[in-house]
Amino acid sequence: MTPTACEYRPGLEGIPATQSSISYVDGQHGILEYRGIRIEEIARSSSFLESAYLLIWGGLPTTIDLKAFEHEVQYHRRLKYRIRDMMKCFPESGHPMDALQACAAALGLFHSRRELSDPAYVQNAVVRLIAKIPTMVAAFKMMRKGNDPVQPRDDLSYAANFLYMLNEQEPDPLAARIFDICLMLHAEHTINASTFSAMVTASTLTDPYAVVASAVGTLAGPLHGGANEAVIAMLQEIGSVDNVRPYISDRIANKQKIMGFGHRVYKVKDPRAVILQGLAEQLFAKVGRDDYYDIALELELVIEEKLGHKGVYPNVDFYSGLVYRKLGIPTDLFTPIFAIARVAGWLAHWKEQIGKNRIFRPTQIYEGPHEQPYISIEKRLQLWEK
Ligand code: ACO
Repeated sequence: MTPTACEYRPGLEGIPATQSSISYVDGQHGILEYRGIRIEEIARSSSFLESAYLLIWGGLPTTIDLKAFEHEVQYHRRLKYRIRDMMKCFPESGHPMDALQACAAALGLFHSRRELSDPAYVQNAVVRLIAKIPTMVAAFKMMRKGNDPVQPRDDLSYAANFLYMLNEQEPDPLAARIFDICLMLHAEHTINASTFSAMVTASTLTDPYAVVASAVGTLAGPLHGGANEAVIAMLQEIGSVDNVRPYISDRIANKQKIMGFGHRVYKVKDPRAVILQGLAEQLFAKVGRDDYYDIALELELVIEEKLGHKGVYPNVDFYSGLVYRKLGIPTDLFTPIFAIARVAGWLAHWKEQIGKNRIFRPTQIYEGPHEQPYISIEKRLQLWEK
């Protein structure tokens, strides 16, 4: 069947790419659910590992299943020395997302059996990727400065251990809980660009390490996961509350996007941004307000006034950076942290995809010429010399 121009939608906007029971978004009413459970409920009551289990295995675990999953993840946190040796060769100036993509792909070299129909293989891959990705991010942070990576600590929770490996200091329990909630909020979000990339890669029946590496590369872009870094750069550039209005007017006049705002699906404030703003305020109450928070509040007001009619409101990336800054996390680790969380969603979609696989092979509308003559290089030279 030849597609017609009227069937084509740039960015595949609104085109269903799969049938899925992992998560649900209602962009008009600001609703997000994981396996039918509202994100607000998950953020209030669950943990990252429990919500990862929910997303990947399809239901909330029993106490025994959760303990077993937590124990397995804790057991596999360490990196193989060959991966650490490989990381020593990475340039200090390289972006941590590129380092993470390389490490996720390299992990596949150690588990190349690729028996996708074996539940034990699937379980092992899920555990290893969830366990080792935070260690890779923290190790790169230390090793790019020539320091040894901080070894994971078995007595700490998933979130607390990551903050410990980053800062070589056991985090305050509130900081660890807030970070765990941030991971839950970023764990899954239907068919966004990186998840679609994961699904396309999965549909070739390659290994899950290649699936995650492909998704990490897609998440890195500034229109997707990379926006949280860009938000901090923008707040820095604006510099003061008084400068918000002229800055926004200038960007809108020049048809430039304002980072941390707008979403393909949400036409109201992203429910995750609402929760993140609350977390930022909890953290500010304990350790002091962030210098950029007043600028952020003014930005939200001005954007609502100028772009609210187009459905442009804060997305998940707008307040996450302010939380991470207060947790002492360097700006270029914001997107790798997004990846630590989103690996749960990618793996859930990988598992769903291989369970009912058909390789992705869309079509195109060809716009180029036909029946062109081939001109030999000698003739082309003569033509160019004229
Ligand atoms: N700043 C200014 N105007 C905006 C913004 C924005 N951030 N977002 C959307 N708009 C405007 C568009 O210019 C467009 O206006 P028009 O109808 O007059 O042309 C209208 O709102 C509709 O927006 P689209 O561009 O059609 O939205 P699309 O679905 O293509 O893009 C996207 C969504 C990429 C997220 C966009 O809003 C954007 O670039 N935002 C900034 C980057 C960002 O924060 N990305 C993170 C997204 S969340 C995530 O990936 C985890």
